[in-house]
Amino acid sequence: MKLLVERDYDSISKRAAALVAEQIANRPDLVVGLATGSTPLGLYRYLIEEVQQGRLSLAAVKTFNLDEYLGLAPDHPQSYRSFMEENLFSQIDVVPANTHIPNGQPDDIAEHCAAYERLIVETGGIDIQVLGIGRNGHIGFNEPGEAFGRPTHLVKLAESTRQANARFFSHLGEVPTHAITMGLKSIMNARRVLLLAAGADKSEAVYRAVCGDVSEDHPASVLQLHPDCIFLLDEAAAALL
Ligand code: GLP
Repeated sequence: MKLLVERDYDSISKRAAALVAEQIANRPDLVVGLATGSTPLGLYRYLIEEVQQGRLSLAAVKTFNLDEYLGLAPDHPQSYRSFMEENLFSQIDVVPANTHIPNGQPDDIAEHCAAYERLIVETGGIDIQVLGIGRNGHIGFNEPGEAFGRPTHLVKLAESTRQANARFFSHLGEVPTHAITMGLKSIMNARRVLLLAAGADKSEAVYRAVCGDVSEDHPASVLQLHPDCIFLLDEAAAALL
């Protein structure tokens, strides 16, 4: 695990964009794992700037998002598909058919999860997976207690996660209770993992991920076992290290 600490959120966003852009420059058909939440927004803004100024192209890149809320149609304003369209895909040159996000309304959930996992493998596997971290140590939507060995699957969201994400909905009752997420095994299969965290309210989760026991009680701690994992933190998120 490599720890990189920058002064503030803007600096980690810029450095994350530089890391991702460098990998894409070296391999234009890179397979990139993407995340939602507020944390990667700065990274996405810098990637958009690079593309719009002609310094970077994602025309051959393939993307796989970590997760999607169960029950939300792709065009629901709070779906992660809508989030990605609005905050990244619509503003860059990625080919829409090359962007993959679990479907929140599949006919057969288990079959959809298995197909998503298969598609990642058939595409060559994820070269770099971008991650945020939940205050309880969740990554993707893998909540505390999730078995490390699981591929893409259905999860029940922790109440604390629903409350944290309620800010995007008009009230808590609208926040879905379940989601489809890449599992910890899917995330660990990525060749490189880039976890971004900013702000003092992530410092405890970061501390436990980096210095705590590797335990299913704190999902992000599994990343201690990853051979190429970078934690890119601002000073506030790194404060307890
Ligand atoms: C959600 C997402 C996670 C994300 C987490 C933290 O639950 N499923 O992928 O890391 O929120 O979000 P934020 O970056 O907004 O703090």
